[in-house]
Amino acid sequence: MYTQALNTAETADRDLEDAGKAAQFQARIDAEERIEPNDWMPAAYRKTLTRQISQHAHSEIVGMLPEGNWITRAPTLRRKAALLAKVQDECGHGLYLYAAAETLGSSREELVDAMLAGKAKYSSIFNYPTLTWADIGTIGWLVDGAAIMNQIPLCRCSYGPYARAMIRVCKEESFHQRQGYEIMVTLCRGSEEQKAMAQDALNRWWWPVLMMFGPPDATSQHSDTSTKWKIKRFSNDELRQKFVDATVPQAQYLGLTIPDPGMTQDADGHWRHSEIDWTEFKQVLTGNGPCNRDRMAARRKAHEEGAWVREAAASYAAKRAQRQTAQAAE
Ligand SMILES: [Fe+2]
Ligand SMILES: [Fe+2]
Repeated sequence: MYTQALNTAETADRDLEDAGKAAQFQARIDAEERIEPNDWMPAAYRKTLTRQISQHAHSEIVGMLPEGNWITRAPTLRRKAALLAKVQDECGHGLYLYAAAETLGSSREELVDAMLAGKAKYSSIFNYPTLTWADIGTIGWLVDGAAIMNQIPLCRCSYGPYARAMIRVCKEESFHQRQGYEIMVTLCRGSEEQKAMAQDALNRWWWPVLMMFGPPDATSQHSDTSTKWKIKRFSNDELRQKFVDATVPQAQYLGLTIPDPGMTQDADGHWRHSEIDWTEFKQVLTGNGPCNRDRMAARRKAHEEGAWVREAAASYAAKRAQRQTAQAAE
């Protein structure tokens, strides 16, 4: 009886202490201070960020696949070199992001295994196929363009390692966006067939790209706490609107038509798109998109084939550590 009372008192003390820490934590966030890996943070903050950063890392890595598909078929040597560099950049983004996620306490193996087991998500946009060279232009222009809209505000995210990784990532994404747009400009100034290829790619990617910003605000589950914790600074619908407003004039410059006959411009100059077909989004999200199975199979194969590299690196690191300990003992 006495022990039980003591335990209850201890739990109450701990709850009180945690409530104090949580209030302090929120005050730091409100003051725009950065949270660093060794700082106290609520378990839910750690969990939300681990989920978001690792999903982001998986998206960078899976995102290499649709574009990697065109490296051997790029139309010129210059285009091939630029695409190769872009795909390598995406790999680098994945690596910074895994490193940022690891600072929250999960190992890279755990994070990668969750993706390979289908438990962790990656962006649904990479479950669409790249059928022609114009898809490479469109991905750079629209997919990297949408990624920039999402990621610029993340440079001010409350979690230090994520915010810092985003600064470099955004610089590279903006280069990708320009590179993609330049492919589109070239195609649209080319032959009738090339322009038609560009239009066809825009038709196929437009709606999936709008879905990249996530479900409408009214139905989004994660937004409230993420906003309070300054992980997210704009809502899904706000970011989507910014993207549409920035992209419509770019399509007009190319002489391409946005595949949305119901789109209108309101008195404030905003371009209002028609209703998005969320049933398609849900299909792709639940694994039934055109390339979900291919993407997962490609990642699993790459992971298995890379096992010897991981083993060699681990054994090298162990031997090196052994040597250093021996040297220190001498
Ligand atoms: Fe990237
Ligand atoms: Fe990119």
